[in-house]
Amino acid sequence: MDAVEQLIEFVDASPSPFHACATAAGLLAGAGWAEVDERDPWPSEPGRYLVRRGGSLAAWSTVASTDPADAFRVVGAHTDSPNLRLKQRHDRRFANLSTVALEPYGGPLLTTWLDRDLTVAGRIGLRDGSERLVHVAEPILRVPNLAVHLDRDAQGSPDRQRHLDAIWAGHADDEPFLAWLGRREGFDAADVLGFELMTADTQPSAVVGDFLAAPRLDNQATCWAGVRAMVDAPQVEGVRPVLVLFDHEEVGSASERGAQSDLLATVIERTVLAAGGSRDDVHRAVAASVCASGDMAHATHPNHAERHEPLHRIAAGGGPVLKVNQNLRYATDTRGAVAFARACEAADVPLQRYVHRADLPCGSTIGPMSAARTGITTVDVGAPQLAMHSAREQMATADVEPYTRALTAFLSP
Ligand code: CO
Repeated sequence: MDAVEQLIEFVDASPSPFHACATAAGLLAGAGWAEVDERDPWPSEPGRYLVRRGGSLAAWSTVASTDPADAFRVVGAHTDSPNLRLKQRHDRRFANLSTVALEPYGGPLLTTWLDRDLTVAGRIGLRDGSERLVHVAEPILRVPNLAVHLDRDAQGSPDRQRHLDAIWAGHADDEPFLAWLGRREGFDAADVLGFELMTADTQPSAVVGDFLAAPRLDNQATCWAGVRAMVDAPQVEGVRPVLVLFDHEEVGSASERGAQSDLLATVIERTVLAAGGSRDDVHRAVAASVCASGDMAHATHPNHAERHEPLHRIAAGGGPVLKVNQNLRYATDTRGAVAFARACEAADVPLQRYVHRADLPCGSTIGPMSAARTGITTVDVGAPQLAMHSAREQMATADVEPYTRALTAFLSP
């Protein structure tokens, strides 16, 4: 299976952050990674390990490390994508229709979610303390546009509160949505005490000429490339590769498992201590480490070239992107830039450099927050894409494999 086919398989199997972690964990387990429970003592034997915290995952390898103060090489990404999520009370009836109340998570391009064949996925928690992931394969929900005849001066963007409830196709009776889901997935809705459920487009990812059209490329393209890099990277003496996939980037990263959490910091600390290191060795390791924060980058849009910095045209298909922002919306500094540029040279892939227009607010990434939380030198990188935060995004197929090669080289300096 080539790189693009692998990425398609990853994305289509991962309609929620929880599924993205399950998909990543499955690929890593197949390559020899053992899952650790954070409640258990940290493994002290050299090996390949991973932990999951809900929609976040961290994986690391200590097989080529002999000194507890050895450096970590980290690739980071985020598992979440903007979408429409179910409100806690979501069952509505209107004119013989069953509808499901939704609200935006993060900043989706709302119009792209209308007239799409949607399904539901996510995590539910039951009274007995167990959790399960759910993913309904076939389309069940749609949020129809208003006909142009009823909206002559179509202002485009739907209202986030009033215009995003989905019609639940085929359900004319009063059965609550969770009861139906439970009948399907084998749980009793009365036992559901918590849930994080979200919609996802059911149209499979597709290659369209030189492009890949797919949901959630931001940022599952990096999640997949990072997993691939962890599996492919040759073990280098004195280097401990780490992959960290954070949930909640699209809403600010402030949670127990987001980039502002202690997830990466504790993986590093516990790994050093379990190897027999001291607190001082933790700080020595951090000082020697570098993190590549991978997130998708804006390819220059041919219809909107004026929205891009004139000297920083980014070509779809032109290779990985280094992102620099003077106001630290990206974490990149000189040292981080050198580390990633060297990786691209070693992998023999071209490197493009992105700067956002100074008169437009720049988006951010996990990079600055993870750098501030851990003290690790960080470089923000990505692969070019178009239509970021659309329900269906687009990237050049030619960028998929070089991106993972650059991250692989970064993990094995
Ligand atoms: Co992103």
